[in-house]
Amino acid sequence: MVKVEKFIHESIENIKERVKGRAIIALSGGVDSSVCAVLANRAIGDMLTPIYIDTGLMRKGETERIKKIFADMNLLVIDGKESFLGALKGKTDPEKKRKAVGEAFIREFEKEARKLNARYLIQGTIYPDRIESEGGIKSHHNVGGLPSVIDFEGIVEPLADLYKDEVREVARALGLPREISDRMPFPGPGLSVRIIGEVTEEKLDVVRAANAIVEEELVEQFAPWQTFAALLEKGTGVKGDIRVHGWIIAVRAVESRDGMTAEAMELPWDVLRNIESRITSEIPNVSRVLYDLTPKPPATIEFE
Ligand code: XMP
Repeated sequence: MVKVEKFIHESIENIKERVKGRAIIALSGGVDSSVCAVLANRAIGDMLTPIYIDTGLMRKGETERIKKIFADMNLLVIDGKESFLGALKGKTDPEKKRKAVGEAFIREFEKEARKLNARYLIQGTIYPDRIESEGGIKSHHNVGGLPSVIDFEGIVEPLADLYKDEVREVARALGLPREISDRMPFPGPGLSVRIIGEVTEEKLDVVRAANAIVEEELVEQFAPWQTFAALLEKGTGVKGDIRVHGWIIAVRAVESRDGMTAEAMELPWDVLRNIESRITSEIPNVSRVLYDLTPKPPATIEFE
């Protein structure tokens, strides 16, 4: 606890020292950016504007939830759906998709920063994000996915040396609700990394509905480190005696310490069958559900 208090104290001092003007923070509602927002808010108060961009790649109900939780901060909510879907249009290569989302993020923020006359960007990059980007495994959107020209005087990353479990500890010490401190990680590029190939509105609707079902069935009861659904390709199925060419959904549930390695959870068969049955009956155009058994490595946690 002493260590956590010391970290909080030092990072607030560090933000005060480095940030010499208006700042914005990219608030995604995840534990990392939420902790950063609270630290920065304590450091520079009203000089901070947290910005939440509804990219259209968010989970069901996310935007409403964020608005409620951060109602007492100076929160700016931007509707970025068109620009993100536009940037992703026609792109199928996973790295190109990540870069497109990363660029759309930074451009939106730069635009808002200019309007607010903010010269500083605060972000919730954590240690594993840096390692994976530096190692060339994947460009995490808040590091390697950024365009090379960044129109900010300074980028401050208060959590850059912390692992996820340490960030959660800081969140609890800061008094953030459990809903945030214990929340599963959600990738910066959102549902776009849970769709193989081109991102379309139809695929987003399907994968968003499937993610909601998986979370409802697994989060409370099994407390996985992370669980979600990904949309693969189309495959042949039979629904109501009619042959259909429907989406294939993969369900993933993993145990992990820090996201660097992971093991697939050994879930009871009836729980898996129930998820399959809900997904295929509640989402019209899905005809097949798979459970991903692969550890990381050789797979990553997300599908792209
Ligand atoms: P992977 O798929 O690389 O994911 O095994 C490890 C952890 O990181 C999350 N993830 C991301 N988080 N920006 C983020 O902030 C990203 O671009 C990103 N990609 C993956 C992933 O959900 C998992 O928890």
